[in-house]
Amino acid sequence: AKNVGILAMDIYFPPTCVQQEALEAHDGASKGKYTIGLGQDCMAFCTEVEDVISMSLTVVTSLLEKYKIDPKQIGRLEVGSETVIDKSKSIKTFLMQIFEKCGNTDIEGVDSSNACYGGTAALFNCVNWVESSSWDGRYGLVVCTDSAVYAEGPARPTGGAAAIAMLVGPDAPIAFESKLRGSHMSHVYDFYKPNLASEYPVVDGKLSQTCYLMALDSCYKYFCHKYEKLAGKQFSLSDAEYFVFHSPYNKLVQKSFARLLFNDFLRNASSVDDIAKEKLGPFSTLTGDESYQSRDLEKASQQVSKPLYDAKVQPTTLIPKQVGNMYTASLYAAFVSLIHNKHSELAGKRVILFSYGSGLTATMFSLRLNEGQQPFSLSNIATVMNVAGKLKSRHEFPPEKFVETMKLMEHRYGAMDFVTSKDCSLLSPGTYYLTEVDSMYRRFYAKK
Ligand code: ACO
Repeated sequence: AKNVGILAMDIYFPPTCVQQEALEAHDGASKGKYTIGLGQDCMAFCTEVEDVISMSLTVVTSLLEKYKIDPKQIGRLEVGSETVIDKSKSIKTFLMQIFEKCGNTDIEGVDSSNACYGGTAALFNCVNWVESSSWDGRYGLVVCTDSAVYAEGPARPTGGAAAIAMLVGPDAPIAFESKLRGSHMSHVYDFYKPNLASEYPVVDGKLSQTCYLMALDSCYKYFCHKYEKLAGKQFSLSDAEYFVFHSPYNKLVQKSFARLLFNDFLRNASSVDDIAKEKLGPFSTLTGDESYQSRDLEKASQQVSKPLYDAKVQPTTLIPKQVGNMYTASLYAAFVSLIHNKHSELAGKRVILFSYGSGLTATMFSLRLNEGQQPFSLSNIATVMNVAGKLKSRHEFPPEKFVETMKLMEHRYGAMDFVTSKDCSLLSPGTYYLTEVDSMYRRFYAKK
């Protein structure tokens, strides 16, 4: 199979959200801390009728319908998620309800998890399958689904929720350059979920920021090395049109791109002009550790990289800023933003993605885009996803109601023998919702 990659995509996020500006005031944070300091506009969250399973049921059904894919045509289904509802039964098996109905139970794949990286692991599994000798000619389907919620405190405004589905096969408009991948994996406690009675992570925010940037440096180094071996020339930021990052909050994305430019400066790469060289010069002798701590370097590199950021990163930031951190779906929601904003200009372009999951696992990889053919064209993908429509039809909750919802969800997490309100008035038609968890912890869903 040739040009294996993503043929079609769809995204779902809850219609319920809270404005960061309102949350800031409610939390007693200084004005601008969440909106400018973190760079976030709005945050989506699940109410008691939605969860990672209902969101993934919604997005998979929608993708199959909108691109007219016969469920029998799916040969592999992989889910990435870090939201634990069951320690044994995979989310994938819930999704089998859709396929069993059509007589298709011959579908490989289960769930992958490591913080926000599970979606990338799932995607690589599907791409590798289509490229392998065990491929049976059918499509792969990848689902990233998460509800990111934090305990009250500084991390809470960095939550979010969404599910994304991606159809994988040959001759794709979004093709993998499979040889161009650099990974960095290591054992750290920056963000983890050891308390199985709680949905909230234990998080060392500062450490997680540094781990993210160190992983980025390391992945970029390996990525460049592989590119140079293959292409016989040095890689620089000029060799890709867009850079897409896992987006816990937008400020970290700004810092990450600045960090890549600093890397190019240290490597004496062609993307760095004389003015930038002069501004970054004073930092060339910093040790690695010092460079992660230097506020002056952070400021200088962000300033120098601003024009390139506006061109190569800004078009990827819409959904992560509006919906929040969607964990496994976050990187792909950034990529969806790019398709939404630039679908008519992407043919022939290279796009670099950086996936990060705490704990930690990270990979930088490369995609090559082409217009594609109906229904698998970039313009049709943009139309089907209807990002603007979905953002516009959301319902803003006041912070008090958001906090109340979080409290209810704390009680519901891991609970049994309850029925939900079944209030689906805010959900759009076709959305799945949770109706009941019985005394055997079995979950039941209905479709609006
Ligand atoms: N106006 C403008 N900016 C402000 C204001 C204000 N009034 N107040 C603060 N700021 C800025 C700060 O200067 C800082 O910016 P900087 O980093 O450029 O200096 C930013 O807002 C955040 O302020 P901090 O004091 O650093 O925030 P705090 O430590 O309270 O929390 C954190 C931020 C650590 C990111 C927290 O939200 C968190 O732990 N989030 C979850 C962890 C996370 O997402 N990690 C990322 C990778 S791992 C993953 O994806 C889960």
